[in-house]
Amino acid sequence: MQPGRLGWKKNGVCVLLAGILVLGAAGCGEKNGDETKITPSVQPEITEPAPQPTEPAEPTRAAAAEPTEPVKEVRTNFYVSTLDEEIPSLSEAWKDYFSVGIALTANDLRNELKEELILQQFNSMTCGNEMKADALLDRAKTLSEGTENCPVLSFKSCDGMLQFCMEHGIKMRGHTLVWHSQVPEWFFMEGYSNQKDAVFVSREVMLERMENYIRQVMEYVNTTYPGVVYAWDVVNEAIAPGDGDPDGMRVEDSLWYQVIGADFVDKAFEYARKYADPEQKLFYNDFNTYEPAKRLAIVKLANRIKEQGNIDGIGMQSHIGMSYPSLDDFETALCKFSETGLEVHITELDINLDSNTEEDLMKEGKRYKRLFFLLKNLMDNNKANVTNVTLWGLTDDGSWLNKDGKRYPLLFNQLLETKPAFWGALLDDGIPLY
Ligand code: XIL
Repeated sequence: MQPGRLGWKKNGVCVLLAGILVLGAAGCGEKNGDETKITPSVQPEITEPAPQPTEPAEPTRAAAAEPTEPVKEVRTNFYVSTLDEEIPSLSEAWKDYFSVGIALTANDLRNELKEELILQQFNSMTCGNEMKADALLDRAKTLSEGTENCPVLSFKSCDGMLQFCMEHGIKMRGHTLVWHSQVPEWFFMEGYSNQKDAVFVSREVMLERMENYIRQVMEYVNTTYPGVVYAWDVVNEAIAPGDGDPDGMRVEDSLWYQVIGADFVDKAFEYARKYADPEQKLFYNDFNTYEPAKRLAIVKLANRIKEQGNIDGIGMQSHIGMSYPSLDDFETALCKFSETGLEVHITELDINLDSNTEEDLMKEGKRYKRLFFLLKNLMDNNKANVTNVTLWGLTDDGSWLNKDGKRYPLLFNQLLETKPAFWGALLDDGIPLY
């Protein structure tokens, strides 16, 4: 059965009298304690007082039989096996708002059942690790065939995922070009040395390495898989207020900052623009973007790069908890980022739930629903410009958070069943908002 836009009927639901769903028009800055205040946009109709009948009206049989409330089906079973039953598609449901993406590892695509579910649900993909510098930089080849200014890359890690996207018409977010993490230290050293006594190259050499790195990634991806990548996370996590930089830049653990200086971000975007296909969007991506100090620093950075003409969007990673951040803070950040005129992608959404009781899974479902509800309302009211929402993983057991095996952050469980979180992300009536 084809779902309508955010509305569908399913097997296994019970029939209830539905209340009127009052959709909210959330606006920036409307606060209600810890959580988002949702102001009704569909106000109850104010009706004129009924004209007084001149003669007492006789109640008629027809009038008495008229139904007063529409009958609607409300879902009660939230654990649907995606192997046995057809479920609504997230990307289809949200198609008038944003694309819906999934971060995968190459292993996910070796599983046919997962592959089928991915194709049914998502129209955007991100490589979880396969396109990061530590996956692409080939030290052996760099030493034998590279030059001091130009490393050699290998794309074996991400070829399969790019191929999959090309074959199935899925678009990819290129993740990520310049990041302080998952980049080998030898990349910053003279002679690409991995010895303890290695010394940093000069700023000039590092800038050339950076440009050559970005150029090679973009040239390879765009010529081998034309049209697949639609957005690049050019710089990831460069802001860490408190590290001592006046603009809130990450200093302590960023070799990019230490070797090049604070303008490595400007340079990365300059090179990315130079080699990107004209239709590809360039993003700055970060976590905890809703923290006020970080939010302010990101807006300042983004405005500066925007003036240089080299940025198109801000990525809010959105690895969130069950109660932190408040959706108020999330909303404020989303609105402030949108006010820059840039697009916003929710790039790495998950909710770090550490319990799988029915009660807690339902609470998680509500939080997902409230988040998607917020996105919808902000977009309906032109307060936010969200063009993609990406989940950071398909099933709970495969989540990067799941180091202790007790995390339940995503929309599907290990058995490839839907969770309340899935129905929440669809704004299903069976998941209460509060
Ligand atoms: C994570 C991956 O999911 C893990 O498998 C890996 O061990 C560490 O990185 N912010 C990002 C992502 O931008 O690239 C990170 O991905 C999660 C945090």
